[in-house]
Amino acid sequence: MTDLVSNGKISPSIPGESVRRDFPILEQRFGPNPLVYLDNAATSQKPRVVLDALVNYYSGVNSNIGRGYYQLSMAATDAYEAARETIRLAINAEHADEVVFTPGTTAAVNLLADTFGRSVVTAGDQVVVTGMEHNSNMLPWRRLCERVGAELVVVPVGAGGRVALDRFTEALGPRVRLAAVAHVSNVLGTVNPVRDMIGAAHRHGIPVLVDGAQAVPHRPVDVRDLDADFYCFSGHKIYGPMGIGVLYGKRKLLSRLDPYQVGGGTVKGVTLDEPVAYVPVPARLEAGTPHIAGAIGLAAAFGYVQDLGWANLRRHDEVLVNAAVGALQSISRVRIIGDPADQPSGIVSFVVDGIHPYDVGGHLDRHGVAVRSGVHCANLFIDSFGVVGTVRLSFAVYNTEAEIEVVRRALTTVRPGFWTEEHPTERFLATDPSTENQH
Ligand code: ALA
Repeated sequence: MTDLVSNGKISPSIPGESVRRDFPILEQRFGPNPLVYLDNAATSQKPRVVLDALVNYYSGVNSNIGRGYYQLSMAATDAYEAARETIRLAINAEHADEVVFTPGTTAAVNLLADTFGRSVVTAGDQVVVTGMEHNSNMLPWRRLCERVGAELVVVPVGAGGRVALDRFTEALGPRVRLAAVAHVSNVLGTVNPVRDMIGAAHRHGIPVLVDGAQAVPHRPVDVRDLDADFYCFSGHKIYGPMGIGVLYGKRKLLSRLDPYQVGGGTVKGVTLDEPVAYVPVPARLEAGTPHIAGAIGLAAAFGYVQDLGWANLRRHDEVLVNAAVGALQSISRVRIIGDPADQPSGIVSFVVDGIHPYDVGGHLDRHGVAVRSGVHCANLFIDSFGVVGTVRLSFAVYNTEAEIEVVRRALTTVRPGFWTEEHPTERFLATDPSTENQH
C-alpha cells in the first residue's frame, strides 16, 4: 500500500509524493497540466485499497444482508458488521450498536433532527448552533424549530472566524434542548474546542451533536474522550466511497429513538392488529438495503489512514498549511481569512482583492488546479466576513508542496473575469473597510 509502514514501525517520513501512486485518478492530466486536486474538503480521492474493497465486494460477496439463510448473504452480513466494528474501534465508541450507517453527514443530521430533535424540542424551546455551521448542520435544526415553534440560537463567530467558548456557554439557557456544533469549519479549518463545549453543555444537561465531517479526515476522533452525545461524518471525505456516512450516538440516547424511515429491516414482525414492533438500533435506523459496499469501503479507508499513521498525517497537514500560508502571503492582493496555521486542519481560505472567487477558481482550473470557490454551503459564516465567498485550498495525504507552488505561480497572473464584471458592486474585496476591524 505505502512504504510508510515497515515491520510495524511508522517511518518518520510524511505522506505526499510517496502515496500518490495509491490514487489512480491522480495520474490524469488536464491538457499540459497534471491534476492538482485541492478540493478535498468537498470530497477526497480514493486509494486503490478502497477501490479494490468495492470491486471485491461486488465481484465476490454481493448479496443482501440479514435477509437470506445462504452463505453469500451471511458473508455479506458478516462483512457489513465487521465494517461497523472497524468504525467503532476507529472512533472509540463503546458499543457497535452506537454506530449507525447513513448516506452521509447531511443525512445523519436530518435523521437526528427528525427523531431525537422531534422527541425533545417543543414550542418555546431552543436549539443552539454556531455561526460557522455548514448548512447541513444548520438547516435541519432551523426547519425543526420552525415546525414546532422553537427558536434557533446562532452563537456568533468572533475574531478570526472563531466561536469563543464563553459566547457558546452564554447561549446555554434553560430552554435549550440540544446544541449542534462543527468540530472543524469546512470554510476555514478552524477547530472548535468541542470537548470544552460539550462539557459546558452537559453542565446544563444539554446533549450535543458534533458535525465531524471536516475533522475525521484530519485527526483521530475519540467520541468517548469528547463525551459527544452524537457525532457524525461522511465517508467520502476520508478516502471512502460516496453515499456512506456514520451517525454515532450514545446507546442510552440512540436506543430510545423511533425509526427515521420505516420499512424492510426495521421490524420484528408485522400484523394488522397489533402495533409494529421495531428491532433495536442500529438496524432500526437503517431502513431498506443499506450501502453495504460503502460500509466495507469505508472500513478499508480507515485502515488506509491508520496505516499511514495519524502523527504523519498531522505533520503533513502542518507542512502543507504553513507552505500555503507562506505562498499566499507572498502575493499582493491576496488575503487569508482566519488563522489556518493555528491548528492546521488541511484548509486555507483566501480572497483576492477585487477579483470574484469564481474567477480565481476558473483561473486556477486553467492551470490544472481544482479548488472550491464561493460560499462553501456556509452562507452565514461567509457573510460574517463581508465577502461574497472565498477560494478554498483543502489538502489530503497525496498533496505536495510542489502543488502549492503551482497555485502560487498561477495566482500571480490572475485577472478579473466574467464574475467580477457581472458583480461589480458586490463585496469580494480583500480589504472591505467595514469588516476590517471585526476579523
Ligand atoms: N461540505 C463539502 C464542502 O465543504 C461539500 O465542500
